Order: sequence, then C-alpha cells, then structure tokens
Amino acid sequence: MTLREKIGQMMQLDARGDLDDEILRVNVGSILHTSPDNLYRAAELVRRTRLRIPLIIGEDLIHGYSFYPGATIFPEQLGMAVSWNPSLVEKAARVTAVEGASTGVHWTFSPVLCIARDTRWGRVGETFGEDPHLIGELASAMVRGYQKGPATEGSLDADAILATAKHFAGYSETQGGRDASEADLSHRKLASWFLPPFERVAKEGCGTFMLGYESIEGVPVTFNKWLLSDVLRGEWGYRGTLITDWDNVGRSVWEQHVQPDYTHAAAAAVKAGNDLVMTTPQFYDGAYDAIQSGLLSEKELDAAVGRVLALKFRLGLFENPRLPDPERIRAVIGNDEHGRVNLDLARESVALLKNDGVLPFDADAVAAAADTNTTAADGSDVVSDDVESSSVKPRRRIALVGPLADDAQTQLGDWAGNSGQVTWMPDGHPRETITTVKDAFEALLPDDWEVVYRRGADVVDLVPDPEGEFFPDGQPRPKVGVPAAIDESMLNEAVAAANESELIVAVVGDVVQLIGEGCSTATLELVGAQNALLDALYATGKPMVVVLMSSKPQVLPESAMNANALLWAPSPGMKGGQAIAEIILGLTEPTGRLPITFPRHVGQLPVYYNQIRGQHGNRYADLTQDPAFAFGEGLSYTTFAYGEPTIGHAGLDHAEDAPTGVMTTFTRGDVIAVSVDVTNTGDRVGSEVVQAYVGDLVTSVSWTDRELKAFRKITLQPGETRTVRFEIPVNDCSIVDAAARRVVESGDFELLVGHSSRREDLRRATFTVK
Ligand code: IFM
Repeated sequence: MTLREKIGQMMQLDARGDLDDEILRVNVGSILHTSPDNLYRAAELVRRTRLRIPLIIGEDLIHGYSFYPGATIFPEQLGMAVSWNPSLVEKAARVTAVEGASTGVHWTFSPVLCIARDTRWGRVGETFGEDPHLIGELASAMVRGYQKGPATEGSLDADAILATAKHFAGYSETQGGRDASEADLSHRKLASWFLPPFERVAKEGCGTFMLGYESIEGVPVTFNKWLLSDVLRGEWGYRGTLITDWDNVGRSVWEQHVQPDYTHAAAAAVKAGNDLVMTTPQFYDGAYDAIQSGLLSEKELDAAVGRVLALKFRLGLFENPRLPDPERIRAVIGNDEHGRVNLDLARESVALLKNDGVLPFDADAVAAAADTNTTAADGSDVVSDDVESSSVKPRRRIALVGPLADDAQTQLGDWAGNSGQVTWMPDGHPRETITTVKDAFEALLPDDWEVVYRRGADVVDLVPDPEGEFFPDGQPRPKVGVPAAIDESMLNEAVAAANESELIVAVVGDVVQLIGEGCSTATLELVGAQNALLDALYATGKPMVVVLMSSKPQVLPESAMNANALLWAPSPGMKGGQAIAEIILGLTEPTGRLPITFPRHVGQLPVYYNQIRGQHGNRYADLTQDPAFAFGEGLSYTTFAYGEPTIGHAGLDHAEDAPTGVMTTFTRGDVIAVSVDVTNTGDRVGSEVVQAYVGDLVTSVSWTDRELKAFRKITLQPGETRTVRFEIPVNDCSIVDAAARRVVESGDFELLVGHSSRREDLRRATFTVK
C-alpha cells in the first residue's frame, strides 16, 4: 500500500459529503451517516479504486435503527435502564442489529457507558444512568445483543453488528454539565467510578471504543496516552479498534488550541493509539506531512492501519461487503416480532413515582360510580319521567392534556431521525408507526368513554440560532428552541376540558431542541408554558395523573409533585404511548425503577446516591439534600415485604448458618451468598427489582457508604414468597485507595438488600473480610 492509501484507511468521513472524492481520492476506510441507496454507489466507487478495500459502514443506531424510515425505535437508553432488565435490553439490541445489518450497516456507535451525575448535561438520556454496576450489566447485555459474542478476535455473523463503548472515558463529568468542556477528573476518580463499566466490556470483547470530546487533566482524550495505551490497551489488554469522536483531531487545532496545526494533531492522534479518525478531512494531508517531516514514523502508522485492515478481514468484508438486501429489509425492518420486543421494553421503561390510589384507573368502575352519583345528586327518582333520556348513559371523559400527549416525533427522543442530525430523513419516522398517548387512549378506553385532547401549552418556539453558524465549514445549525410563552386561550381550553372530565392525564416533558449533543441546559425545570398549565389543571381539583415524558429527570412544580399520580417515561419510543396508557388503565403493571436520582432543585446537583461520605457541613442551609426520588425507587400496583437477609459462603450450605447479627467472615477470592425472602403482600401480580448494596464500614480513604452490587427483577403472584439469592464476589467489595489501586480492605462490611437505594428501604446484614 502507498502511504496515501494507508492514511485513507484510518479515516472515517461523513457520507453526506462528496462520496466520489472520499472514496476515489482519499480511499477512505469508513463512512458514517449514509443511506442504504448511497451504499450501492459507495460499493461501485470502491471497485474503481486500486486496491478495492471494502468500507466499514458505521451508524448511530442508538436506541433502535434511528435513521431508517419505519425501523424500530425503542425507548432511549435511559428508558431501557428504567427496566433494570438486561435480557430485554439484549433483545432490543439484537433487533437493532438485525435491522441495521439488513441495510448494510456493520457497526453502531452504541452503547453509551458514561455516568450521568450532572443532569444538566444534554446527553443524560443517552446513558444508563448514574450507577457503574447497573451501567456495566446493561452495557454488557447490549453489546451481546449487537455482536452475539466477542468481536475483538473472531468473525461477526451476518446479522450482527460491531458495538462501540463510548465515550471513553469521563465525558459526562464536564463542567456545569456543559457538553465537551474540560473534565475535572483525577486518575483516581476515573478508576473509582468511570472506568469499571468500560473495563468490563473491553474484557468481554466489545469491538470498538469511541473516545470522548473532553480533556482530562489538560490532555484531550484523543491524545491521552495514559488512558488509551497504558490503561485500555496495556492493563486491560484490549485488542479492539479505537475511533475518535466527531472531528476530535481537528478540534484540537481549531477549537481547543492544543495542537499548532493538523500535522502535529495527526501525529499525536496516531501516537496515542487511535485507529480511525472520525470526520477530520485534514488528517489526510496532516498525517502525510507528519511522516515526511519525521514527526511520525510509518511504522507507527502501520500499527493502526494494520488493526483497521485486520478488522475488515475478521468481518469478512473482502468476501462479502454486506450491501443492503431489499428482501431482508422488507422482512425485518419494523416487523411485528420487533414491535413486540419494543412494546415489552416500553412497558418496562415507565416508572410510577407517585400514586395515591387513583391508579390503576378502572374506567368501568369509575363510570358506574359516577352514574350512581349523578342520579343521587340530581335528587331525581331512579326511574325518571323521561325514560328515553335516562336510559342513555352520559359519556365519561378523560381530559388528555399537554404538548407531549400527541407529539409522535418528540416521543421518540433524540437520535430518531427527527433532530436534524441526519438530513436524508428530515421528516422523522412515518406517523403510523408511532403510537402516541392519545392514540392509545382512544384505542383502549371503553366505548362509553371519550378522550378530550387539548394541547394546553407549547414547550419551545423555533427560531434561527442567534449565535450564527455551528460548524466552521459554514454548515448551518438547525433552528434552536426558545421557551414558549403562555398562550391563554390554549390554556383555558385545556382547563375547560379538565373541568368536564373524570380524570386529567397531563403529558409534559422536554423536546429534542433541549436535549442531546451540544444541548445542555442551565435549568432542569419544565420549559415553556408547561408549569403554568400544570398549575391551572391542578387548581381544578380534578384527579390528575402527570406523565413526565422527558429524556432526563426534571424538577417539577408543586402542582405535579402533589398530583394524584406521577409517571416518568423517558423518551419512550414508538410504543411509548401504548405502554403509558396501558399502565394508567391497569392493563399492564408498572415495573420500572429509577436508574438515576431526581433532584428537587437544580442547585442540589450533584444528587446521585453513591456520593462520598460527607461531614457536618455537607448540606445546604436553605434546601434539604434529600432527593425528590431516589435511585432504585419505583412503585407497583401491589406491595412487597422483605425478610431479613442472610449471608453465607457460596458453595457451602450458607444462609441458614448465619442468622442476622452474626458476623460471617470471608477472605479475598471468596464469594458471598446472600438470600432474602420477598413476598407480594398485595392482591395483584407485580414485579419487584430486588437490589443488593454493599458498604465498607471504615475505609482508608473517604468513600461512599453503599454501592449497588447485584439486582434481580422478579414477578410474584399475590401472596407468593420467593427466596432471592445473589452471589457477590468479595473482590467486588473493593474501593480505590489513595494510590489509585483497587483494593479490598480488611474489616467489617454491611450488606443492604431491599427495594431502593434509600436506607429506610433496605434490610441489613453484616460480614467481615479478614
Ligand atoms: O456517535 C456520535 C457521538 O456519540 C457524538 N458525536 C457524533 C458521533 C457520530 O455521529
């Protein structure tokens, strides 16, 4: 290969640009953001190059096949995490892989393993939440679903796609939640919280890693030799492929000013261990000049190019470049089976956060009670004079109110062909593939009920970006959203509908202009006229259910916090409306649990549960540090009771030997067996997520008092008791010491098992590590 041909193989370019130039001149190794139609042309262009090296096709299939009309769009990743159900998440990833592969995609830039701690960050909805263990479990499941096995060594099945662990590492920990700023991260902090999920999927064979935009201790991740070479490739022995994020190499010159020119930037990127450089066209000349001037050796370049070519061989692209297969596309894209997986996941991605008993809403019972009351209130005889009119039952009404009750595209969330990210699908997904809350209520309510829909409020008005151009190449930034003003007549119509209804269901939340990459927010409050709408609806005194359809936790007004019931459905995807209506009507049990804490106020941040133990002053004078809703919380339509947990040695007859209060002793390498009885004490079937936390009572460095170590979702019939058993390796009960080493310290520990991360929800047992 010539030097130019090698450099081309290290580049990934945006297929919305000039494909002829990219393939014929640059001999590019990979493209992203392409349409299936483009792939035929791309393959034809590849055949005209000297070496005919096939392309790797990458795409952002983030929560489903975002950019293919009618393909399956699941709840966003944070919604998936609400399910606390790794096997369902794995199935969803499998669906995405099958649909993506049918159109010629080899590689998805998913999952996100970032830890969401500052929820002002725009990309919180793309994460699995705040806890490293939960993130590790779900990310591992998602990688299995995409790849069907390790992809760092062997080949890939025809219906599998490469996964990407991103954004390596600590990208979410930027200042003020603002995207891609400097991250205040020491190596020890990274090792404590941010690296463990990545280490897990690296060792399980996640095919690729994408690097974050941010800098760590002044060094952009793209050039961070410590993180890429010492930790990832060195300590963890990772043999997969590394790709930068969007123009990370170029940004180091034109935005961060840490490289004087593209020659130095290209040299630094190769030396740090990058294999593919995403959308930095200047890399082509930069790398060439770096080698000519001796800044970079050809041997260093060869190592990266070798890894790219090896990946192409392993994927079998030289024999079968995987072009779109029209027959397969017809058979798999958005098919019924995929729809069923989507509905299952949507149902489990809704969390019931408050319920005073108004839910489940039994429409028949409410109508019957209302009929009786109407007659009595009239004071009229049961047999009316006007026989004809008394025999016609009045239609009962649900007032379905709010800007998100019937907004099909917004319901899908970010990365769903609706956020201006991909121009070949400007109109989003076909309307008929999406069930909104309104669609679902209309379909599911009994005939004697009527859905009265009123929008009531807007969230944002779209205006041209006041800051002008977003990209230096002049590509215009899409319109931005500014908070919408209160529209009195819209609001009054909603209130009038509420006054004439048996129940208000208010669907509020955020919109794509307020979330996603480059879209962090200073506030977490509901935007636009939504708070005014909720206040006015609450003032009617009618029973009110609030559905928060937001991509991340928001700070809700008193009227929503005091509503009779509150549900959270983070960007719930195509089937989201159906899942929400089913849960409200009691056709489906709510089973979701929070993977992330809800603050009461934006000033409470950070509010995640596993914070370092503080001292007396670690609180505000004017605000409790108690969150609105804690990690792990979520209600069912039934209740559960926990027995006392017992602890023993896995592999031995354990639990019975160690009643609560008796210290059980372990050494490193042992596995702790924990058993707890869980009983469904209500009269409906229900699912509980049994959560096990471990706390080291005295640590050599300041540390958190509890960390999630295991969980299991179980379904119990009314009155049923089940013994749930976890096995927790003692080596997992580690901390990171002052020298940034992960160690298990000798001493006493507590094991906390129960319903959520709140101490009052947890039963305690203790053990000792010698
Ligand atoms: O995959 C994404 C990444 O998460 C953010 N920047 C752009 C990439 C490709 O679209």
